[in-house]
Amino acid sequence: MDQAEKLRQIVQELKLKKTSMEPKEARIIAVTSGKGGVGKTNFTLNCGIALKKIGYRVLIIDADFGLANIDVMLGITTKYNLFHVIDGKRKIQDVITEGPCGIKFISGGSGIWELINLSSHKLEEFMVMLEGLDNIADIILIDTGAGVSERILKMVLAANEVIIITTPEPTAITDAYALVKSAVSINRDVTFRLVINRAENQREANAVMDNFINVSNKFLDVKLQPLGYILYDDSVMKSTKQQKPFVIEYPKSQAAKQLNDIAYALTSSDIEGSDRPQGIKGYIYQMMNFLKTRRT
Ligand SMILES: Nc1ncnc2c1ncn2[C@@H]1O[C@H](COP(=O)(O)OP(=O)(O)OP(=O)(O)O)[C@@H](O)[C@H]1O
Ligand SMILES: [Mg+2]
Repeated sequence: MDQAEKLRQIVQELKLKKTSMEPKEARIIAVTSGKGGVGKTNFTLNCGIALKKIGYRVLIIDADFGLANIDVMLGITTKYNLFHVIDGKRKIQDVITEGPCGIKFISGGSGIWELINLSSHKLEEFMVMLEGLDNIADIILIDTGAGVSERILKMVLAANEVIIITTPEPTAITDAYALVKSAVSINRDVTFRLVINRAENQREANAVMDNFINVSNKFLDVKLQPLGYILYDDSVMKSTKQQKPFVIEYPKSQAAKQLNDIAYALTSSDIEGSDRPQGIKGYIYQMMNFLKTRRT
């Protein structure tokens, strides 16, 4: 290596070091569905672990307020949630729980809706604490309830990236379509991705995927991105009963392989939306804006 080449290498190394040290905002990805029970929580948790295994730092926010789903799926109980932080009773680090393989998660708690009633001083305090989350995560996955209520829909659409899960059942597809239809009336500036879950075979999964994307494109003028599919797999059921994620308990299962493919697709460098990480603050401000505006 000649002197000039050595110098170039040093400069390149310094550049890389600088980018990795610069504070980076996390990608915010909300996971939702039209119909309930289609596999959102299973997807979010296992996708989070798959992403962690690839090398990304992952935080999951459980924003499905009906039941503490992720807690149950992991067989852990959390004492505090985001509401205690909003309330000023706890620090953000008190509500972060360590999950399997080093993923982290936070239970949202229904108090999140209280955010819009906070004084500007308290909101500022909360936002400063939240900022820390961008330092511990590259990707923040938000597991939401089914997007039937306007509030939940706004919470979902505040994210730059949204993953919609559906099964091939006609009711799930119709509800997912209704969700996309309401979604585009609130925020079109979102990258929507579609996952077909619990399909019988690859042919069925592809047919549902193609059909859904074509219909949304033609009638709603929305370009949904196909993200992948997961076939029906007994390992998913079994692992749910055992309160263990299937990518860990059954790493060789078909579902685990398909989920790994999805995690890789989600992090490929040319995927739309990944190049504009939003950061947790950007997300919360956007959500509050949506919540404050009434739809006519
Ligand atoms: N690919 C699959 N194969 C077999 N069973 C699956 C698959 N995906 C999910 N399930 C099962 O479907 C059920 C619902 O999954 P999950 O709780 O993840 O759905 P959800 O969309 O989060 O539900 P909710 O709307 O109630 O929050 C679980 O019992 C889970 O084991
Ligand atoms: Mg769920």
